[in-house]
Parts: sequence; structure tokens; C-alpha cells
Amino acid sequence: MEVKTMSGLLDKMWADYVAINPLAQKIYDIFKTEGEEIVNDHIALRTFNHPRVTIDVIAKPFIEAGYKYGGDYHFTEKKLYAKHYEHENAAFPKIFISELKLQDFSAELQKTINSLIDQMPKDLEHKFDFTSIGRPWNVSTATYENLLKESDYAAWLAAFGYRPNHFTVFINKLKKFSDILFLNTYLKEKGIKLNASGGEVKGSKEVLLEQSSTLANNIDVKFDDKTISVPACYYEFAKRYAMPNGNLYTGFVAASADKIFESTNQGQ
Ligand code: NI
Repeated sequence: MEVKTMSGLLDKMWADYVAINPLAQKIYDIFKTEGEEIVNDHIALRTFNHPRVTIDVIAKPFIEAGYKYGGDYHFTEKKLYAKHYEHENAAFPKIFISELKLQDFSAELQKTINSLIDQMPKDLEHKFDFTSIGRPWNVSTATYENLLKESDYAAWLAAFGYRPNHFTVFINKLKKFSDILFLNTYLKEKGIKLNASGGEVKGSKEVLLEQSSTLANNIDVKFDDKTISVPACYYEFAKRYAMPNGNLYTGFVAASADKIFESTNQGQ
């Protein structure tokens, strides 16, 4: 079915996300059983800074639906740049879009990514629901594994294409689980593994944002030559604190997001 509205697009992105990330559905269902209403703080999307698919291209449907630019972020070590967008309708989650800075990688990686993007039909990137179309190119396991040597991010994107990398539960809207440490303990008791890179809780009350996340579950992905098991998506949890003016902080903390990116790394 063709999606034409922003709420329709957000629903489609969620459906696609839980289809390949059953752990998110499981956690969502656990919260529901506990009587919680889940509100999303943000949805994270990944792309390359190739001219056809830059952050600005990916953001277009969101901007047209009333989203406004909210801030930008640099991740030097991971060679990423990101922007976030927010909507005055609080029912619409913030959209966090990062892009891999191709020029900072080897000529081989650049050539590989260019050849993937060249496989996309003309104007595909301008489709309203581009952020939930999945992988728009063919790729082999050898290419995936070569990309992994330079960037987990590039390999993930090559394998999964355009779809949410994660949704994020807005902890402030939870009744029983408003404390992130309590939330983490509860999830671990349910047998859910959390990303421990940089500590389970990233950020602090002092930087106005606390975040934690599950580790990505592995799923079977069909490549050109064979199917292999690779890390898919993760589920994130964010608690925001008020700024001196009393409004909740709506931005992101680069040092925290830097570690959260590692939730999809191989072998954590
Ligand atoms: Ni996030």
C-alpha cells in the first residue's frame, strides 16, 4: 500500500523495524503488559554523504511534513556527521539522521559504496517512503565483510539499506520505569542484553540526557551468494532533563551517541 502521510510513514517504519527486530516487539509488549503507553523519543536513520542520499535528501519528506532542523553533531572517530529534526506535534518522534563521510575512507570503500548507490533506479531516493524501502541494491557477503574491516556502520547500511536503525522509547512518558537504572535492571532480569560500551547508561543528568540500548539481535540476511547471520537493529531508551528555562532538552549528546552506534557492531 502506498504511504502518503507522515503518520502513515512512521507506522510503516515501525512495522518494518519490528519485522526484523523481534526483540523490540518483545520489549514493547513487556511494557504494554506493565500498563505503559510507549512514546518514541526519536527514530535513527543511517546514510552515506553520497550526493544522491545525503542527510538533506533523506530529511526532505520530514521537512515537508513540518519537521524543523534541531541541531547537528560530529563523530570524528567514526567519521560520521548527523542532524536531528523535530516536529511541533509531540506525537511525532524526533528524527536523527547520520551520514558516513565517504571521503574519509579508502578509495576501495568509496568505490564499493558508489557502485551500490549506482544500482538504485533513478529518483528512488525521492520516494516519500524511501526511509522504509529496505536494501535497494544487491551485495555479496565478500563485499559486506570487506566493508566491516573499515566501518561497522558502512557494512550495516550495505546489508540493510534504508530503514530505521533504531526506535527509542521516551522514558519520561513511562510511569513505572522513569528511572533508567531501574529500567535497565528490569530488562536484564528479563534476559535482555544491553550495550555496555562506555557503560550501560550513556550521558547523565548533567548533560540533560541519559540513554541506554539493547544490543542488536542477529538475523539471517540474504546476500547475493548466500545467507548469513548479522547484527540487525537495536532498541534504545532515552530520558531527558529540563534546561534552566524549564523546557526539556531536545538535543543529543555526541559522546553518548558515539557509544550507542556500537550497538550494531559485530562481536560485542
Ligand atoms: Ni538514538
